[in-house]
Amino acid sequence: MKTAITGGAGFIGSHLVEHLLAAGDEVAVLDNLSTGRLENLKGVIGHRNFHFVEGTILDRDAVDRVVAGADRVFHLAAAVGVNLIVDHPLESLRTNIHGTEVVLDAVLESGASILLASTSEIYGKNTSDSLSEEADRILGSALKSRWTYAAAKGIDEAFAHAYWRQFGLPVAIVRLFNTVGPRQTGRYGMVVPRLVRQALLGEPLTVYGDGHQTRCFSYVGDIVPAIVRISEEPLAYGNAYNLGGSYEISILTLAERIVELLGSGSAITLVPYEQAYSEGYEDMRRRVPDNSKSFGLVGFEPKTTLDEIILNVAADYKPAKVLDPARWKITLAS
Ligand SMILES: NC(=O)c1ccc[n+]([C@@H]2O[C@H](COP(=O)([O-])OP(=O)(O)OC[C@H]3O[C@@H](n4cnc5c(N)ncnc54)[C@H](O)[C@@H]3O)[C@@H](O)[C@H]2O)c1
Repeated sequence: MKTAITGGAGFIGSHLVEHLLAAGDEVAVLDNLSTGRLENLKGVIGHRNFHFVEGTILDRDAVDRVVAGADRVFHLAAAVGVNLIVDHPLESLRTNIHGTEVVLDAVLESGASILLASTSEIYGKNTSDSLSEEADRILGSALKSRWTYAAAKGIDEAFAHAYWRQFGLPVAIVRLFNTVGPRQTGRYGMVVPRLVRQALLGEPLTVYGDGHQTRCFSYVGDIVPAIVRISEEPLAYGNAYNLGGSYEISILTLAERIVELLGSGSAITLVPYEQAYSEGYEDMRRRVPDNSKSFGLVGFEPKTTLDEIILNVAADYKPAKVLDPARWKITLAS
């Protein structure tokens, strides 16, 4: 099988590359290395079935180069992370809307199938007990750039759906809920790697707002195989599937657990949103997935516990092994 991956040098993309190469695929990646890194691909560079093109999804020729001859495409390239979206709204919109249109168009011409990585952000401020794929989207003001990521991903889904309805493009959509694991960077606002790094360095863990906002974190090692299985299921075409964790936790409790688990002496500091972000910021109080649709299609069940996720992220943090893993409260199964 020949597979093309946009955004393959990123956090999730690089795990997907490894997974597919191990399964025997020939894999071509297109990435502009904006938030992605070649370091993420160091385990596969030189592999005879791996090809890398540095370029942007806004460049149709570059997209054609990686899509040519592919049986399937995973479209993961996007401007990701609250900080990046808020600080670079225009570039982010162009990448996340126009870039996706370029990719869908190229894939339609090539005859491949495609899986689009969307996000739980599209549900916005909907705090339901369990968000199904049909749940309403409740977004804040269009003048707040914080919402442009959700708006753009919603347009991406609409584009994908229209290509399916009008041209029969075999396109499936997955909505990821806070996927976490090794190689994710905390630089652009991702909470788990940021808090783990602070705990390892003995710095205060900065929790934004009152810390009572909740999330359900999922592990990249659970999500990647599910993404692949969904891409291989024709029933998924024209449909969207939630993929998220099953354990709801407040960010304050998460910070406390990280400190305890890593044996850190760090304090936990609450930081008002106005200080954490440059403009009027809104957060979601709660975000809980209903995974029953993806369970029904491909048997998706998140298996990795939050403690295992935290330890895997900590074990990946190389710049400063300040704390001795021997002090960690539990150890990773090998
Ligand atoms: N990590 C999560 O919790 C999460 C949640 C929901 C959705 N997603 C989606 O999953 C996908 C992957 O996210 P990630 O967490 O791995 O983030 P990431 O930032 O690590 O990966 C995005 C990749 O896209 C690349 N990229 C950005 N703009 C590009 C462009 N114009 N052309 C080519 N490449 C470009 C980046 O260099 C990076 O390698 C994204 O589409 C994101 O929206 C992730």
